[in-house]
Amino acid sequence: MLNKQLVINKLPSLVIGNLVSELPIIQGGMAVRVSMSKLAAAVSNEGGIGIVAASGIGPEELYEEIIKAYELSPGGNIGLNVMAAVQEAKDLVIAGIAAGAKLIIMGAGFSKDVMKICKSAGVPFALIISHAEFAFKAERLGASAVIIEGKDAGGHLGTLTQNAFEIYEDIKTIEKEKGIKLGIPAILAGGILNGKDIKRTLDIGASGVQMGSRFALTFESNACPLWKQAVVECTEADIIIIESPVGMPGRALNNDFIKSFYNPEIPKPKIKCQGCLKDCSRIYCILEALDEARKTGKGVIFVGERASEIKDVISVEEVFRRLKKEYEEAITKEGV
Ligand SMILES: Cc1cc2nc3c(=O)[nH]c(=O)nc-3n(C[C@H](O)[C@H](O)[C@H](O)COP(=O)(O)O)c2cc1C
Repeated sequence: MLNKQLVINKLPSLVIGNLVSELPIIQGGMAVRVSMSKLAAAVSNEGGIGIVAASGIGPEELYEEIIKAYELSPGGNIGLNVMAAVQEAKDLVIAGIAAGAKLIIMGAGFSKDVMKICKSAGVPFALIISHAEFAFKAERLGASAVIIEGKDAGGHLGTLTQNAFEIYEDIKTIEKEKGIKLGIPAILAGGILNGKDIKRTLDIGASGVQMGSRFALTFESNACPLWKQAVVECTEADIIIIESPVGMPGRALNNDFIKSFYNPEIPKPKIKCQGCLKDCSRIYCILEALDEARKTGKGVIFVGERASEIKDVISVEEVFRRLKKEYEEAITKEGV
């Protein structure tokens, strides 16, 4: 009986295609250079899936980062995240797979070419979606999992109306109405901060979570101390929706950079543009603005809606210790 209780209290594993993760936790890819080898390796060492963000870096740098991540987490689970909107998406995926990436996550669109590359390399491909119908479409296209990202996530957003739980409920409604079943794992992202949130996710039938903001605020994330301090000190009111140059809304801190760029009365400096995105308004360079914030704290700081609830910068090990403890406490409270 005691053993059974102990097993029930433990977080389950997550299987995506041929990838087996001890824990159902994916660290969200965070561009530009916020989630690199150190963070991805630390997450992998704790039993999660560590993701290096590929958008905004070149294929060579990505290759090196993934090799470094495996040096820090031999035999671990390291993947990469790339936006479909990035010109070099295909080359990044090829480089990542050559370095041993075990999971490719694609957001902000879909690429058949990338899917084919993953398929022939035998590497699972997960698609980020923000509408229930797209989950079934992703499965039909051959995705091994869907990451359902809701309106409360950090970064570029595919919806401003539904959180991941609501989108997942819609999937269940479609399943009932059409008598079909989503046959690939659904992973929820956006506003998941603690073990109680993970329990809620698993209770409704999803397979795991993807967390961004909590992992950005760790010692291992590559954001500079000023970036982390700005987020730790922010309030709910400081986190706003911006119209990103890529033509999608994004969730960011309302700092001086944002205030100046979105104020029509303040003259804008001429931007250097390398044409890295397929479509871009070029009001400023989002990749540069993200990287600058990551280096100096001045630029675009992407954060999730609930990031203001995170009040400390801790180690990845401590994040996992808390998540497991909170999950176990949530189960015990319910007296399973
Ligand atoms: C700083 C930052 C950068 C991000 N960059 C990306 C990215 O490059 N690609 C992507 O698919 N998602 C990106 N995201 C979204 C995260 O991967 C994750 O899905 C999201 O943050 C989850 O919401 P949470 O922050 O509330 O946990 C980013 C999020 C943050 C906070």
